[in-house]
Amino acid sequence: MNAPAIQTTRMNFSFRGLPVLQDVNLSVSHGEFIGIFGPNGGGKTTLLKLIMGFLTPDNGTIRVFNNSPEKVRTRIGYVPQIHRTEADFPITVAELIAMGLSRRPFFGRFNKSDWQECDIWMERLGLIAHKNKSYCELSGGLAQRALLARALISDPDLIILDEPTAHIDAASMKIFFQTIEALKGHKTILLVTHDLKTVFHRTSRLICVQNKISTFQPNEICDHFNLGLFHPPLPNQPLHFASQQ
Ligand SMILES: Nc1ncnc2c1ncn2[C@@H]1O[C@H](COP(=O)(O)OP(=O)(O)OP(=O)(O)O)[C@@H](O)[C@H]1O
Ligand SMILES: [Mg+2]
Repeated sequence: MNAPAIQTTRMNFSFRGLPVLQDVNLSVSHGEFIGIFGPNGGGKTTLLKLIMGFLTPDNGTIRVFNNSPEKVRTRIGYVPQIHRTEADFPITVAELIAMGLSRRPFFGRFNKSDWQECDIWMERLGLIAHKNKSYCELSGGLAQRALLARALISDPDLIILDEPTAHIDAASMKIFFQTIEALKGHKTILLVTHDLKTVFHRTSRLICVQNKISTFQPNEICDHFNLGLFHPPLPNQPLHFASQQ
């Protein structure tokens, strides 16, 4: 039988002695679409960085595609949580997207077909008119689309999206979910969001990260969560969001 796409066992992680994640036992199957939510500082981004091998657990284990996370990084597409600064970063939109290909094994120089692939992704995500603009000139929503194209261009098996829909408008949101829905079932997807209402019904399950993790089925998600009132699973909780589907 296939090993899970992601498996953590009794994983603990702390920053300078302060516990951030405790006793995380998580098993994610291939093709699952998992929504991740929880309060600011709850440890969501930290969990993603552990899964990508940018951080290592204090103790416990973590396996991704039955390997050490850092060994399979080329199979992961990542949209980081945006912290935009005023700093000018001299790179065009096309160049930023092409960077996604540099994660391939045996990467050499970009060739003609690489640039054609970039064009395909820019067409798909409505970025082609911005192809030669500086990435830093893009609005927040267009920048998020460019980061999504960079994450997906290498056809990764695991897609990790850290608040990719924060501050984007309805048009960008539509393009974003059309793109992700097309990958559902084929790829393993982890999506961090504070916008549960938009996301919960698209997922196979949801995980609340608040130092520890709790798992929910989509129909267990209730209005409390969007208000920031996080709590452990409660049986027979009224299902306000679920009734809106
Ligand atoms: N590089 C770091 N050094 C020290 N502490 C850190 C570092 N990165 C994160 N932390 C701390 O770890 C905790 C979890 O942070 P993390 O970024 O994982 O939270 P989050 O759930 O992603 O929050 P948000 O919703 O604000 O993105 C916080 O208390 C944060 O201050
Ligand atoms: Mg975060």
